[in-house]
Amino acid sequence: MRIYCEKDYQAMSRRAANIIAAEIIRKPDCVLGLATGSTPVGTYKELIAMYQQGDVSFKEVHSVNLDEYKGLAPTHDQSYRYFMQDNLFNHVDIDPANTNVPNGLAEDAEAECAAYDRLVESFGYADLQLLGIGNNGHIGFNEPDSSFTKATHVVDLTESTISANARFFESANEVPRQALTMGIGCIMAARRILLVANGAGKADALYNTVCGPITPECPATILQLHKDVVIVADEAALSKVIAAGVAVCR
Ligand code: GLP
Repeated sequence: MRIYCEKDYQAMSRRAANIIAAEIIRKPDCVLGLATGSTPVGTYKELIAMYQQGDVSFKEVHSVNLDEYKGLAPTHDQSYRYFMQDNLFNHVDIDPANTNVPNGLAEDAEAECAAYDRLVESFGYADLQLLGIGNNGHIGFNEPDSSFTKATHVVDLTESTISANARFFESANEVPRQALTMGIGCIMAARRILLVANGAGKADALYNTVCGPITPECPATILQLHKDVVIVADEAALSKVIAAGVAVCR
């Protein structure tokens, strides 16, 4: 596990974007696993700037997103499909047909999950999977649980996640109670994983991810078993990891 400690959000975003751009330059037809949430917004902005400068092209890239709220239409401004269009896809040369987000409106959500697993498998899994992390250590929408769920599945969101994400909605009541999320199996099958985190609110989650026991009660701890994980975070998010004496790159 390589950990980059960056001085602030902008530096974190630039570092993460550079790692993603390097992957695209290495393999122009790579499969990118993409994430939502506020943390990667700056990373996507940096990638858009690189695209505008002609440094990187998404023409041959395929993307697979981690998750989607159950019941939200792609046109809903809090759906993750909308987020991806707004924060990245509409601003770069990716072929819309090559972008994939689980369908939150699927009548048969279980069948949608199974089809999503087959799709990601047919791509040979992500070359690079971008992840944020929830305050409770969730990745994608894999919430703390008594076991790790390998396959893409429908999940009941925890109260902690609902209240954390309420800031994007009119009120907590508007936050969907369920989501479709790529499972731990797909995430771990990615060739490389890039986790971004900023702010003191993520300090405990990051500490557990790096130093804690591997447990489904903090899903991100499974990343300790992946052979190529890069964490890019700011000082505040890494404060407890650094205090524990873990070496970081600066
Ligand atoms: C959501 C997403 C996660 C994301 C998390 C953290 O729950 N499903 O993929 O990592 O939020 O979001 P933020 O980056 O806004 O803290």
